[in-house]
Amino acid sequence: MHVRPDLRSDIGSSIVSDAASVTPIVLEAMKRGDNPRLREVLALLVTHVHAFLREARLTDDEYEYALDFVRRVGLACNDKHNEVVLLADVLGFSTLVKVLNNSLHLESTGGALLGPFYRGNSPHYELGASLDQQSTSDPVLFVSGHVKATDGTPVVGAKVDVWQASPVGLYENQDPGQPDMNLRGNFSTSASGEFHFQTVRPAGYPVPTNGPVGELLREQKRHPYRPAHLHFVVFAQGFDTLISQIFADDAEYLNSDVVFGVTRDLIGKFERHDAGSGPHPGQPQSYYTLHCEFVLAEGVATLPTPPIK
Ligand code: BEZ
Ligand code: FE
Repeated sequence: MHVRPDLRSDIGSSIVSDAASVTPIVLEAMKRGDNPRLREVLALLVTHVHAFLREARLTDDEYEYALDFVRRVGLACNDKHNEVVLLADVLGFSTLVKVLNNSLHLESTGGALLGPFYRGNSPHYELGASLDQQSTSDPVLFVSGHVKATDGTPVVGAKVDVWQASPVGLYENQDPGQPDMNLRGNFSTSASGEFHFQTVRPAGYPVPTNGPVGELLREQKRHPYRPAHLHFVVFAQGFDTLISQIFADDAEYLNSDVVFGVTRDLIGKFERHDAGSGPHPGQPQSYYTLHCEFVLAEGVATLPTPPIK
């Protein structure tokens, strides 16, 4: 093709001459924003995605399919479900961000995904109360724990907010058979920084698979399950809020969590006791105990925004 001589020198313009010229042109166009951190992050994003596109050499059809997939992920979101977060989770993005940020505070307990089922207004219970409003015959779990600062001093009056799936793997908001706020509650730590409560053993459960993320998992021949776990938000003035999860050491899928949320330090020992033995000998059936230690880093206490009401 004939190129007009006066257009041959494109320095400073955004006229593309070949594939190699695209990335510097885009980076140049993005230099003017006022926010330096946003400039830095977007420049890295463009540099890495352009490098990916050079390597992957997507066909036009593949590129159109990918854009349409992202469109469908957006359409699958509503007030009760966030498919964008789910996509980030199953691709390991969310866990990578968590683990990178945890490595900045090695002296405190590692954070884990908040997940889509946190409700901010759980009922407050006295220490020792049960989260199980149904008094089911499912295996009872006694949870005890300790909240400490990094120097070992107990954190008194910390709010420990807990939520979990039922023994069949459903959160109460997914299950019309459970009372509102079942298996959710918050406790205040005692003068020695301790908390304890009774609940039922949670089961593992599948992440939602009726949207485009489910299609992706099926295409990749991946199962959709998370191993059994309890969620915690530990909140105390003067400390970074800890958002964490504790996984059952004997849980199915512990080694293949669909959202890669299991880190070694968050695996809890679920100890089984026969009826009439162990620390709760009055139990008529076999039961479990779990002890958790939460170490909080000094910082500013903030509460996460609940993804559902
Ligand atoms: C959860 O643990 O509740 C969860 C986390 C990520 C995706 C789906 C569920
Ligand atoms: Fe969960």
